[in-house]
Amino acid sequence: MEIPSKIGKYKILKRLGEGASGCVVKAEQEVIQRIVALKILFSNLLEEKPLIVKRFHREARLASALVHPNIVPIFEIDEYNKMHYYTMQYIEGTPMVDYIKSSVLSFDTKVDICVELCDALALAHSRTIIHRDMKPHNVIITKEMHPVILDFGIAKSLVEEEQMTQVGHILGSAHYMAPEQAGPGNVGTYTDVFAVGVMIYELMTGERPFQGGNVKELIMKRIQYAQKPELYRPPQMKELNPQIPEKMDSIVFKCLEANPKNRYQTAGEVLKALQQFRTELSLQQAIQKSDQKVDVVPLSIPINKKASYVYPLLIALFLFLAFASFSFWVYYGKQEYLNQAKEIQNKGSQKIQEAIGNILKKIKNLY
Ligand SMILES: Nc1ncnc2c1ncn2[C@@H]1O[C@H](COP(=O)(O)OP(=O)(O)OP(=O)(O)O)[C@@H](O)[C@H]1O
Ligand SMILES: [Mg+2]
Repeated sequence: MEIPSKIGKYKILKRLGEGASGCVVKAEQEVIQRIVALKILFSNLLEEKPLIVKRFHREARLASALVHPNIVPIFEIDEYNKMHYYTMQYIEGTPMVDYIKSSVLSFDTKVDICVELCDALALAHSRTIIHRDMKPHNVIITKEMHPVILDFGIAKSLVEEEQMTQVGHILGSAHYMAPEQAGPGNVGTYTDVFAVGVMIYELMTGERPFQGGNVKELIMKRIQYAQKPELYRPPQMKELNPQIPEKMDSIVFKCLEANPKNRYQTAGEVLKALQQFRTELSLQQAIQKSDQKVDVVPLSIPINKKASYVYPLLIALFLFLAFASFSFWVYYGKQEYLNQAKEIQNKGSQKIQEAIGNILKKIKNLY
């Protein structure tokens, strides 16, 4: 797709990529020097399916009403030289898909990311807005490790018009497709729940629960899974990564139920389950930490015991020494006075001697 250097008030800076419905560019809104991302609808879609334009506008309007920290804000929907586009906040970060195979994220961070994703989707579902194309390509993870969902309710609805069977781009989406999208069946909020289940599975294990080299194969697998779920159920996550708690497996597998009725019905329900899991997990971690501290306690007991008798002993010793020095000082001080007085007594007149005699008595009484 040819992109001019300027689209309306936006100066095009860089092409970010291309999906099934259009291409995304980084641009600058020059008047306010704001960096934005523009999603431009493929022009052939407009010619072949004029209804799509209407739908594009409607979906973008719906998506722009979703104000949530984990959903990309949409600023404007417009048209320039028959080019239909919408602008959104440019999200600095790394596509979630790049984190799938890397081992940089801790289990706790992965859980936090899943919780935030479900929190954002829960808002949409509460307004009966379905994303329809939840996949790691449509989530950017910011530097602060917060996920931001892109393409809300827009991309897939257009792609569905094309029956999801032709273009290579769609393969990415097919991995996250629910059985009802592969065969006859109504799409609902539970369809996003299935995709979220696949995403969590992939984030936790690095593997996709349903493997397939092409869209047809993936669709086939969904149909088989819908017909005989017990036979085509993917392996439990803990078989791929033994560190994954069973509870996490049960949450993900409830998202991945073949029959939509058996799934969590909305992302809000998944959110609740994940939050409960996270609370239990942090409680367990706290107990484990305190258990480790208990192990240390026996070592510290002798130190405490030692402290409990050493300090009083030192204080007693100090008091004893202070008392001994004081007594010594008093004793020698008294001797010194007596000697001096006796000397004066020997030398002086009788009156003086009497006076001194009195003083001596007083001194003797003094101690
Ligand atoms: N708001 C945004 N900020 C930053 N990058 C973005 C933004 N929106 C999209 N991108 C990036 O642009 C690229 C193309 O996105 P696009 O949605 O066209 O492709 P896709 O997600 O692979 O396919 P699909 O059409 O199925 O959604 C992706 O790499 C995506 O991360
Ligand atoms: Mg996309």
